[in-house]
Amino acid sequence: MAHEKKIYECSECGFESPKWFGKCPQCESWNPFVEKVARNVSKNKQKSIEIHPISIFDSNHIEAFSQKILTGIGEFDRVVGGGIIRGAVILIGGEPGIGKSTLVIQIAGMWAKNNGDVLYIHGEESFHQVKERAQRINAVHKNLFMYSSTDMNDILSHIDTNHFSLVIIDSIQSISNSEVDSLPGSITQVRECTYELVQKAKQLNIPMIIIGHITKEGYIAGPKVLEHIVDTVLYFEGEGKQSLRVLRAIKNRFGSTHEMGVFEMCYEGLKEVTNPSAIFLQERPMGVSGSIVFPMLGGSRPLLVEVQSLVGKSRIPQPRRGVMGLNNQRVSLLTAILEKKAGIYLSDRDIFVNIAGGVFVDETAVDLPVVISMLSSFWDSPINSDWTAFGEVGLTGEIRRVNGSRIRLNEIAKFGFKTCIIPRVDSSDLPEKPENLQIISLENIRELIPLFKEREKK
Ligand SMILES: Nc1ncnc2c1ncn2[C@@H]1O[C@H](COP(=O)(O)OP(=O)(O)O)[C@@H](O)[C@H]1O
Ligand SMILES: [Mg+2]
Repeated sequence: MAHEKKIYECSECGFESPKWFGKCPQCESWNPFVEKVARNVSKNKQKSIEIHPISIFDSNHIEAFSQKILTGIGEFDRVVGGGIIRGAVILIGGEPGIGKSTLVIQIAGMWAKNNGDVLYIHGEESFHQVKERAQRINAVHKNLFMYSSTDMNDILSHIDTNHFSLVIIDSIQSISNSEVDSLPGSITQVRECTYELVQKAKQLNIPMIIIGHITKEGYIAGPKVLEHIVDTVLYFEGEGKQSLRVLRAIKNRFGSTHEMGVFEMCYEGLKEVTNPSAIFLQERPMGVSGSIVFPMLGGSRPLLVEVQSLVGKSRIPQPRRGVMGLNNQRVSLLTAILEKKAGIYLSDRDIFVNIAGGVFVDETAVDLPVVISMLSSFWDSPINSDWTAFGEVGLTGEIRRVNGSRIRLNEIAKFGFKTCIIPRVDSSDLPEKPENLQIISLENIRELIPLFKEREKK
């Protein structure tokens, strides 16, 4: 008989301990611990797979590995690194209703048309629901096989028939392994099932797309646990009510994590947005304070997004701070720099900063536009609507250089913006600037103050 011992596991993050805790030491959630019996299921499974050492000179394996198969959905292919590699496991996470099933059925339909048989496991919805969706978005094809199951071993036996060139699991939380002593959807089940699917994908050398729901903390079922097991982790995001959706990579063993795919949710499914800047700026208000356009560099393609700030006198002792689409701590840091280095007293202000359109910006080049939008809102002084800015702000208030200046400037000029505020560089280093674009290059955020004061005088 297998050796069994009792352990406690956090139902939020999967942290295991021989002792019960009221608060999880890892994710700090309260009362999440459930008792489980530990059995070494995965270790036994691992032994059953045959792997032989391969010479590093073996070119057959290298070619097979580097061959990328296009799904035909350009925005998706770019985000995963130029197509799907055989044996790769891609996890797509997102909130319920965001459009994960729509995206994967669209991929499945295209794949069935162009590349061969697809197995679509739907554990959550009925055959009719999935078929209705497939018909609505025109993904019905004879090579697309639907299978409704929630049992891991049953699913593996169908994958084992090996006539599928792509397997889709919708969703990982709906399937479970009866050998594992844990409820379906629990961290242990999700981890074990993902692990087994990854093993199968590698063994048969077929790609797999797994859908994962996001927990209330914004993790795909168990924070880092799944991210280590799979090859690629994608997040599908957007403002629920708006039709814009953004797909971005959090982890990618086969490409950059800076690429971003943009889609629009329509009745016929997800439409690719090849010119996203126009869409992101569509609803931009003109002539109001606290708003400036920032040329973001999402991978190889630039994207113009609107940075918005609201800085107002607080009526409570501890002013409120809210940040959406940006790193919260970065905004706190910029607020502190503005106070200390530019003498702008913000401690008694409520401050809200937002990136319009539901995009997440994780590059420091957004510092300068954030600072400008905060100043604009602070003085209630609108910035010209054809102005833009990019640059990193350092702790002494200095404005530092960022990469991709030329690509950013070209995108700005393409959309008819007239002025861009950038970090000070030697004139020889100044990127070849597009015609009709005025450049204001600054060294320190203090130099922004006269820009606003001059406007006041006019
Ligand atoms: N009949 C329909 N017509 C138009 N849009 C629909 C229809 N049914 C669902 N949708 C859209 O699809 C979204 C749900 O997508 P789905 O792929 O099921 O999301 P997820 O799998 O992420 O939960 C809904 O929020 C809605 O925008
Ligand atoms: Mg779904």
